[in-house]
Amino acid sequence: MALSVLTFAAQLIIAQANIDKAVLALVEKLGYVYTFLLEKDTIENMKSMKENLGKIARVVSDCAGFIKNYSNTTNFWKRLGKNVVSETQTAIDDYSQALDGLMQQYRDHTIRDIRIYVHRVLDELNLEGMSYVGGASLNTMKKCLDDTRMEILQDIIDWVNDPDPDAPRILWLHGQAGRGKSAIAHTIAAWTKDVGRLGSCFCFARDKRAERREEKMLSTIARDLAGWDPVFRKALARVLEEDHTLKTTPDVLQQWKKLILEPVSEAASVIVGNVAVVIDALDESESVSSRRPILSLLISEEAANLPSNFRILLTSRPLPDIECVLSSSRHVRVTCLDEVPWDLAYRDICIFVSKELAALEDIGQEEVERIAHRSSGLFEWARLACEFIKPYKPGLTAKEQFTDLIALPSDDAKVLLDTMYTTFLGSLGLRSDRSLRRFRSVMRQIVTAFVPLPMATLNHMRGLFPDEDDHYDIAIVLQFMAPMLGGIIDNTSPVRPLHASFYDFLTDHSRSGVYFINTSDSTNPAYARASLQVLCSELQFNICGLESSYFGNHQVTDLQERIKKNISCHLSYSCQFWAKHLERTKFDSSLARLVKAVVGSE
Ligand SMILES: *[C@@H]1O[C@H](CO)[C@@H](O)[C@H](O)[C@H]1NC(C)=O
Ligand SMILES: *[C@@H]1O[C@H](CO)[C@@H](O)[C@H](O)[C@H]1NC(C)=O
Ligand SMILES: *[C@@H]1O[C@H](CO)[C@@H](O)[C@H](O)[C@H]1NC(C)=O
Ligand SMILES: *[C@@H]1O[C@H](CO)[C@@H](O)[C@H](O)[C@H]1NC(C)=O
Repeated sequence: MALSVLTFAAQLIIAQANIDKAVLALVEKLGYVYTFLLEKDTIENMKSMKENLGKIARVVSDCAGFIKNYSNTTNFWKRLGKNVVSETQTAIDDYSQALDGLMQQYRDHTIRDIRIYVHRVLDELNLEGMSYVGGASLNTMKKCLDDTRMEILQDIIDWVNDPDPDAPRILWLHGQAGRGKSAIAHTIAAWTKDVGRLGSCFCFARDKRAERREEKMLSTIARDLAGWDPVFRKALARVLEEDHTLKTTPDVLQQWKKLILEPVSEAASVIVGNVAVVIDALDESESVSSRRPILSLLISEEAANLPSNFRILLTSRPLPDIECVLSSSRHVRVTCLDEVPWDLAYRDICIFVSKELAALEDIGQEEVERIAHRSSGLFEWARLACEFIKPYKPGLTAKEQFTDLIALPSDDAKVLLDTMYTTFLGSLGLRSDRSLRRFRSVMRQIVTAFVPLPMATLNHMRGLFPDEDDHYDIAIVLQFMAPMLGGIIDNTSPVRPLHASFYDFLTDHSRSGVYFINTSDSTNPAYARASLQVLCSELQFNICGLESSYFGNHQVTDLQERIKKNISCHLSYSCQFWAKHLERTKFDSSLARLVKAVVGSE
């Protein structure tokens, strides 16, 4: 900006021939400012210097205008009977002074800014406040069992390490639910991390949809890359310094261009060796429309031209919207887990099952092989099969449970998991109306929560459900659900499905039948009412007992501790999601009264 104005001014000055001596002095000064800035404008631009340049540019432009108008202006002055010489001198003195002052400021700023800049580079570069999804990264508990899946893992690792500049930058690993995609993703992430080549690992999760992870995926990855490489970090810090709004923008396209592409292109030349970014379970993101921008970035020219040492491993089920985009892009390599040779999957499942069932005396190699055979290569099915056979059930030997399992009708792989879920739920013996109703009520409570909640919180909220009949300890249902749900051993970790397909099963009537949970049913006001009641009874003035309201959050040193002590999990949940629950509930005048009590002021 500054330069273009200056160029314009300089041209004007050169074009002026006939001018007074006094004005000539001003022209000379402008020439000096111009050459000075010409040199400085190209050095690293820092914010306050830019501001200063802008000011100088404005004065120069006015000054040039003055010179340009000079003969007209003097005529004008003459007509007004003014003393042209002294008027001219006053104007010139004013411009001169303004320019000298600004030039001095500019020099001072430069020195100060260079000092700050050096300080920043030496110190931590400030990335605070960037959107970041916690708990979405590598989980080594999800890794493949040692010595299984070696061929496919090796194949992916070879691609990650491939030095060929034309290697595809993206690998899409897809397969139906239960094939072990996530296990492979986490294994690759763990392996690359061990050798310092993991840039970032980002996982979507069906039960975390309320977090809208897709809006924070790229900024989280950028933040991880910054932690991994100092050059990337420096470049990212500079981008954010120039535009603070980028730290929290939900705009995926801006994130991609500014937080990924810009710093990546700067860092690429200095990063030695290849770097992997793992994105797991894209199909579990919030909705088709929310992942569309991500998909279009992945097949863009820019993604194709990422530095040749960048690799993105992406896993998902082959849902139509994802498949349609990724399967036909030239720079996306596609690997299908459903097509892994049968003998390899069979061998790996044998290893897994025999380890799981090693303690059972009446299960030998033959039984293991039959289970592996029945699994049709679905790891999740094999895991559930082991969970089915393992626990002691009254009056049945492990061998008999094995026989029952094998006797299940043999279906194609698509419905194998469903058959397993139905068998499992059937074995719980939810025969009476009451037990089945309670099962559905508890599962409904878990499935419709916007974030996974621990048992204690679920029980507390349940205590506020309008129907007396709903007031029981959910452990009477959940304690039998360990094969499908995590977090039911203790009261404090969130209850969540071990495999996303279990939620899909429960919420699809054609698959789950009597166990179906209708998530679009708006007639159940339970959650909305419970969360509003929590707000009514537990919100209070100065809830954390702060001594003064004049402190900013960052000045309260034990804020996190106070929050933990004074704000319960159910209160925090209710504050965040009461409106969302209300949105999903049919109008009801008693709910409206509660809303009024919470938000209305008298
Ligand atoms: C020069 O003259 C133009 C038009 O006569 C006017 O718009 C402009 O403000 C003048 N510039 C100065 C610096 O007097
Ligand atoms: C000088 O003034 C005349 C009349 O006001 C105008 O037509 C002309 O464009 C002006 N010249 C400059 C260089 O501003
Ligand atoms: C689920 O509930 C909605 C709204 O009450 C209803 O329209 C729909 O038919 C129900 N679905 C099933 C499968 O019962
Ligand atoms: C917050 O917690 C502290 C320590 O447990 C307690 O003394 C205090 O009364 C609590 N404040 C409120 C407003 O509940």
